[in-house]
Amino acid sequence: VDDIRKRIESKLKERIEEYGKNVYPKLLDAMKYSLLAGGKRLRPLIVYNTGIELGISEEILINLGIAVEMIHTASLIHDDLPAIDDDDYRRGKPSCHRIFGEGMALVAGDGLILLSMKVLNDLEIEESTKLKLEMKLLESAGVNGMIGGEAEDIDMTGKYEKPDLERVLKMYERKTGALFSFSFSSPIICIGDEELENRMDEIGRKFGVAFQIYDDLKDLIGTFEEIGKTPRKDEVMDKPTVPRLVGVEKAREIANGIYEEAVELLKETGKFGKLVGFLRRVKEEIERR
Ligand code: IPE
Ligand code: IPE
Ligand code: MG
Ligand code: MG
Ligand code: MG
Repeated sequence: VDDIRKRIESKLKERIEEYGKNVYPKLLDAMKYSLLAGGKRLRPLIVYNTGIELGISEEILINLGIAVEMIHTASLIHDDLPAIDDDDYRRGKPSCHRIFGEGMALVAGDGLILLSMKVLNDLEIEESTKLKLEMKLLESAGVNGMIGGEAEDIDMTGKYEKPDLERVLKMYERKTGALFSFSFSSPIICIGDEELENRMDEIGRKFGVAFQIYDDLKDLIGTFEEIGKTPRKDEVMDKPTVPRLVGVEKAREIANGIYEEAVELLKETGKFGKLVGFLRRVKEEIERR
């Protein structure tokens, strides 16, 4: 895993330099600042672990991973803005807008989102597959995916009345689950198996919901060193989170339950031993910190 993480990291650097050649320097700096700030690279690692067992080339898998990581990073830049979560730290460093200003942070996020499409477009694969991958990323990131979920999160923030649990879980499926579903299902698009693709989308949504609850728990019980962002911020901002609705213990129970459902569904496919192993390690890592 460490070896492949390094390859993802160096390829990310390589691609952003390549695409950044004629880009306005300050814009490129802002994009690179956030993209290369050292995230866990979980989404690219899931793409890799899913696809490598299907015999898809590492080159394609890493570029699929880079595309989703660009959108993810953009979502974090925008999520941290004063108008949304108002966070001063991200990935252990001052957030993008704290260094470059709000305007530059906005366009840096926009730039990364659009660049992700160019990364997909430059893949050396059959045109019809490429189109499907592009549609998938657009949908995962878009108004019925991550953006839609963020919108609902924004709209539920600071409300006196507590939303119900079902509604918050649905919102998580979009804001966090949708991008994970791209990680799990994009390699399947490359081999053209629609039934398995749908199954992997479902697994990705579930994994994403569990992951978001673990993130909420970290916000409550983690330290700055552990999470690289200001802890206990969700309470201050009156965010709609699962632990805030049902308490820490119950939230952990719900997250563990959904996580196990995702792993079980994955095992049922009979195909992804490596990925199951990787997800187990991710969970152990979450529990350790
Ligand atoms: C943080 O995602 C935002 C959520 C969807 C919970 P990650 O925890 O994957 O963030 P990085 O990429 O490692 O910084
Ligand atoms: C963010 O959820 C999910 C996104 C789509 C950006 P959070 O707001 O909980 O993520 P953090 O805690 O800021 O990383
Ligand atoms: Mg948020
Ligand atoms: Mg946030
Ligand atoms: Mg959070």
